[in-house]
Amino acid sequence: MQITVEAKPFAALETEALVSYVFEESDPIQGRIAEIDPAANSLLRNLAKSGEVTGKVLEMTLIHAPAWLKAARLLLVGAGKREKFDSAALRKISGAALRYLKSRGVHKFVFAVREGNATEDSAQAIAEGLLAADFESDKYKTEKKNDKSIDSVQLAGYSAAERAAAEKGLARGTVIGESQNFARDLINEPSNKLTPRILAQKAEAMARQAGLTVEILDEKKITDLKMGALLSVSQGGPEPPRVIVVTYTPANAKPGTPVLGLIGKAVTFDTGGISIKPADGMEKMKYDMAGGATMLGAMRALAALKPNVKVICVVPATENMPGGTAQKPGDIQTAMSGKTIEVLNTDAEGRLILADAVHYAKQLGATHLVDAATLTGAIVVALASINVGVFGGADQSWTDKVLASAKAAGEKMWQMPMDDEYREYIKGTVADIQNIGSGKGGGSITGAWFIREFAGDTPWVHLDIAGTAWNDDAKPWLAKGPTGVALRTLVELALSY
Ligand code: BES
Ligand code: ZN
Ligand code: ZN
Repeated sequence: MQITVEAKPFAALETEALVSYVFEESDPIQGRIAEIDPAANSLLRNLAKSGEVTGKVLEMTLIHAPAWLKAARLLLVGAGKREKFDSAALRKISGAALRYLKSRGVHKFVFAVREGNATEDSAQAIAEGLLAADFESDKYKTEKKNDKSIDSVQLAGYSAAERAAAEKGLARGTVIGESQNFARDLINEPSNKLTPRILAQKAEAMARQAGLTVEILDEKKITDLKMGALLSVSQGGPEPPRVIVVTYTPANAKPGTPVLGLIGKAVTFDTGGISIKPADGMEKMKYDMAGGATMLGAMRALAALKPNVKVICVVPATENMPGGTAQKPGDIQTAMSGKTIEVLNTDAEGRLILADAVHYAKQLGATHLVDAATLTGAIVVALASINVGVFGGADQSWTDKVLASAKAAGEKMWQMPMDDEYREYIKGTVADIQNIGSGKGGGSITGAWFIREFAGDTPWVHLDIAGTAWNDDAKPWLAKGPTGVALRTLVELALSY
């Protein structure tokens, strides 16, 4: 799909469909939309008067062959209340419009921003919305639905003077949208097509193409480094683990400046191990590598957007299998940091592999950490699929920075409590620490506290994306399946340095 900026007056554009949006207010037909209305014999205002066009969020009004336009169709999308309208809404509207038109066989359309919205940010949001909405994997279908595709979209409503800003926003949004889809492609892969070794190969290929430094640690190196927590998870099956390390170094890198560490859980399949999961729904555990994929996607975007900060990405990759060599409940493992862990539940494996990855990221020089992981079912209970769970360490200013980036990127995140009392739940009886809480409830918090033990005093934020990384039902603006959530926040975080 090609997205370009078109500075011509949009009423004069020849296209299969002209798309714009109307607000939910007493008269939704205002401004630029009203300007094209006189020629339409007040058709639009009459539709509004009759209640067919209200401006309610995602309401779709499709008008065929409007004689007063060069376009073959006019699509008006409801944008909701004007006061609540922001770039997140624009992202959704543009995505929903794309999916609406795509399903109707349209191949090319013009998306026109309204007066006051012709900014760099809006162009970025629209590009992100369009690219995310266009993603639909039919990779493993032998019959492709090739007739249903969007080939090109023109962004209109920008004046000649606004064009440069629009193009800048579009370029940035395209990089971010494509990187998000890169992550979603990885997340979609089933576990037989994406083992830890294959994930490492794909990460390496991406990094080389993007001009990033990459190192893949194999099982020998992992053993030499004494990553006992990661190895305890991978020992349950024949697939060897990998640790993927991708580094971005800015051109003017100065020693002594902050280094961002991005750590992502990549369990390419989570059976639960000996603490095995129920069969029902287990197939979904192919997405237990979404945190790692999201971090790799973020690195892909950062390579192109070139932030001013060094970024080290560490992705521990393994399967969690219940083979004859698997670790068993009660086993005691020694993490790379030297801490001993009593593994009370082999299904709480994400925190084990993150323990070593977080420790290693610090050793490589990361001074500020963010990890993303499909860590707990408990976060789904707490926040459903609406908000990412955010857990911070002692440095609230670092958590605030991540939350501010999420707000700017239009990703919903909610900070969870991390009182010291929760830490008591994971204090070990026979080892230093145990991998599940002894108290009832608070499962996502004890999971976060476990990782925090390895982050130590280094500013750290944990994102639990178990509820938000996978869309169970298609939305008007997004297909069913992987979402790539948190990527935009992480890119924004790095760029805001
Ligand atoms: N990968 C799961 C968490 C998960 C659950 C992700 C649902 C996506 C959807 C994780 O490894 C896990 O099994 N966690 C356990 C922890 C428990 C044993 C303390 C859980 O949440 O049940
Ligand atoms: Zn698990
Ligand atoms: Zn898991």
